[in-house]
Amino acid sequence: MRQRFFYLFVLATLLVSCSGGKVKYRIGISQCSEDIWRDKQNAELRMGAYFHDNVELKFAAAYDSDERQVQQIDSLMNDGIDLLIVAPNQVQTISPAIDRAYDKGIPVIVFERKTSSQKYTAFISADNYEMGRVMGEYIVEKLKSLKIEEGHVLEIKGLEGSSPAIERHNGFMDAIKDAPGIKVVGSLQGDWTEPTAYESTKQWLLNNKDVRVDLVFGANDRTAMGARKALANSKLYTLNSTLYCGIDGLPGENGGIQLVRDSLLDASYIYPTHGDQIIELAVNILEGKPYEKETMLMSALVTRDNAKVLLMQSEELMRQADRLDLLHDKADNYLHKLDVQRVVNWLAIGVIILLLVAIVLFYLYHLSKVNIRRERVVNNLWNLGSTESIELTENTEKPTAIADIPEEDPKKETEPLFITRFREVVERRMTNSELSVEDLAAEMNLSRVQLYRKVKALTGSSPVELLRIARLNRAYQMLLTTDKNVSEVAYDVGFSAPAYFTKCFKDEFGMVPGEVRKSS
Ligand code: FRU
Repeated sequence: MRQRFFYLFVLATLLVSCSGGKVKYRIGISQCSEDIWRDKQNAELRMGAYFHDNVELKFAAAYDSDERQVQQIDSLMNDGIDLLIVAPNQVQTISPAIDRAYDKGIPVIVFERKTSSQKYTAFISADNYEMGRVMGEYIVEKLKSLKIEEGHVLEIKGLEGSSPAIERHNGFMDAIKDAPGIKVVGSLQGDWTEPTAYESTKQWLLNNKDVRVDLVFGANDRTAMGARKALANSKLYTLNSTLYCGIDGLPGENGGIQLVRDSLLDASYIYPTHGDQIIELAVNILEGKPYEKETMLMSALVTRDNAKVLLMQSEELMRQADRLDLLHDKADNYLHKLDVQRVVNWLAIGVIILLLVAIVLFYLYHLSKVNIRRERVVNNLWNLGSTESIELTENTEKPTAIADIPEEDPKKETEPLFITRFREVVERRMTNSELSVEDLAAEMNLSRVQLYRKVKALTGSSPVELLRIARLNRAYQMLLTTDKNVSEVAYDVGFSAPAYFTKCFKDEFGMVPGEVRKSS
């Protein structure tokens, strides 16, 4: 019984603690590469997920490999994600995998880099063509301001086949095509990485020793910096004679804004990461709320004029974000403690309920025992057919017992009358501790043996037993109704030794006389 209670209780506790959990949205994030721009964005994606306790993120980075990204998208799909966020490495190559996810009914958010297919739920990015164009216009103006007759520009492109590389290049070319005095002296592969840009530039310099480079336009800041290193190492150029422009304009240590402030780059363009906004979009889609299918993110040029202010502001924002992070950790801790506390509370409540139930059960049991004993005091063994001993020998038929009564019974009284008389005699004389069965028999005008047989036949008990029970019953009543102590009661009902009285009392009622006092 006790064990069953325990299991029920544990089950209830588990149910209560489990019911606190919510449905999880599993969002798969397929990043085409891994670098400081992606690191910042991933941190923002995580931050965005903090605000939704029903969201779980699964990250995968393809390190610029088409093959790896396709595999990763397939395995995210097999993991049962509810939504896919993807930056496709190249436009054509990743599309089939994205299509597979979309066809399977998984909503797809394409961000920052485009797919060749229309199978996506939403697209979010800054305008890469516009970025290239604005940067082109800036470069035209810059070279004009330097009064260089024919500005020589070396372009370092992003990964071939990736949409930002194509669009930035197109925007840049459109901006400079009609500008007089600008010449693109080389257009090199940079693959978005500093080492590739460095190698490409190094090779180009070997083959173009006599070509002057006034400005390098890198499709991103890292490729601009790769070219810068190559030019610096070539000894053909003094560092200050060439300007470097890139795109990304990241805040923080070694980010584009700092590079512009410190004059390592002449300009950059903020390519917004906005991971938290992407998560908001994802949650809106998952929860069936309204959302924009195409979102264009705002962006801005970073020059020496605004780099210092931008950096200060971004540092302040980062400090705030760090503090928010800390706050989140604290809140997490607190929530965890609350969870533990809740389980402990339920356990405590369970234990208290169990204890209360046990106390009530014990009390009821005790009460019923006392009632049975009280009943026995009232309906004592004097009543034929209701005696304990007769109950115990239920199958012993009364006629047989009566048949045992010897013929020589002189009085031939009716049975109840005989018992009533015998009872009166016992009740009257029981206080005498010297009282013997012979005395009782004499009072009933019977021999000791006759009395024994008749009483035994009618009640199932011997005269001595009945005398003892009568004494005990009276003692019970006295304990309930008088202030006399146990010894006084014992003597009053005819026991010559209180210790013997206590023993008989316990045998009869299952408790010592003192307990009757307490329970009354
Ligand atoms: C980051 C990055 C950025 C660039 C963008 C283009 O992985 O290489 O530097 O602006 O991707 O998609």
